[in-house]
Amino acid sequence: MDETRFMKDLIGIFDSGLGGVSIWREIVNILPLESTLYFADSANCPYGQKSQDEIVDLSERITRYLAGKGAKIVVVACNTATTAAIGHLRSVFPFPIVGVEPAVKPAALSSRSGKIGLLATLGTIESPFYNSTRARYASDVEVIARPGFGLVEAVENNQIYSVETEALLRRYIEPMIETGVDKLVLGCTHYPFLIPVIKKIVGDKIDILDPAPAVARQCQHVLEETGLLSRGSNVRYEFLSSGDNEKLDIFLRNVTSLPFSIGEI
Ligand code: DGL
Repeated sequence: MDETRFMKDLIGIFDSGLGGVSIWREIVNILPLESTLYFADSANCPYGQKSQDEIVDLSERITRYLAGKGAKIVVVACNTATTAAIGHLRSVFPFPIVGVEPAVKPAALSSRSGKIGLLATLGTIESPFYNSTRARYASDVEVIARPGFGLVEAVENNQIYSVETEALLRRYIEPMIETGVDKLVLGCTHYPFLIPVIKKIVGDKIDILDPAPAVARQCQHVLEETGLLSRGSNVRYEFLSSGDNEKLDIFLRNVTSLPFSIGEI
C-alpha cells in the first residue's frame, strides 16, 4: 500500500519539464526535513507557446495527481504555468499552492540605469498576470523583454554548453546589453541552468536575478503559517516524468549529489 496517499506529507512540485529542478534544489536546501515529489511534464514541454486553456488543463491534472500521491502543498515551479493557471488552481484545490513569476519587482527596485532585461517564454511575456505585475511594480523602469525561443529545449536536451545555445543567448542578450540594462531577470525556471553561459556573455556588468531562493522561502513561510512543516522522518526525493526517464536521470545526476529516485507514473 502506498502510505504517502494517506499521510499527505510531501511537497509536490511540477514544471513543464526539468527547469523546476532549479526551484527544487533551493527548497531542499532550506527545508532539509521535507520530502518532495517532482513531476516533469516533459512529454508536453514546452508550455511557452500553448494556449492558456491547455496550460490550465495540464496544470490542474498534474496538481490533482500530486495531491493523490500525498502532496500537502504544490509548488508550480514554472513561470508559464503560474501566470496562466495559478488563480484557477487556487480556486479548485483546498491546499496551499505556491507559484513563481518573473522577479521584475526586485530588479526595478535595485536598477540604477532604469533599464532591466527580461528573458522568459512568450506565454509569460504576453500573460495578463505578468503584465499586471509589471504595471504595478516596474512602471518606473524600462523592461526590455525577449522570448527565449529554443532555450527550454536546450536545457531539456542537455545542450547547455553547445555552440548553438551560446549563439541563441547572445542573440537575445547582447541587444539588451546595448540598451544599457543593469539587471537580467530570468523569467523561466529552465534558464538558471544556463547561468554559466549567460555569465560569459554579460560578465560582471549585469546582475542576474533567479527567483528560486525567494520561491523556496515562500514555500517555507506557507508551511510554517499553515502548520504543515514536516517532522522529517525518512526524507526522500522522488521524481516522475511524463517523458523520458533516462533524460531525467542524466539531468539530475548533473545537477545534484543528493540521493533521489525516479518513479513510474
Ligand atoms: N520552466 C518553464 C517556465 O518557467 C518553461 C516553460 C515552457 O515549457 O515553455 O516558464
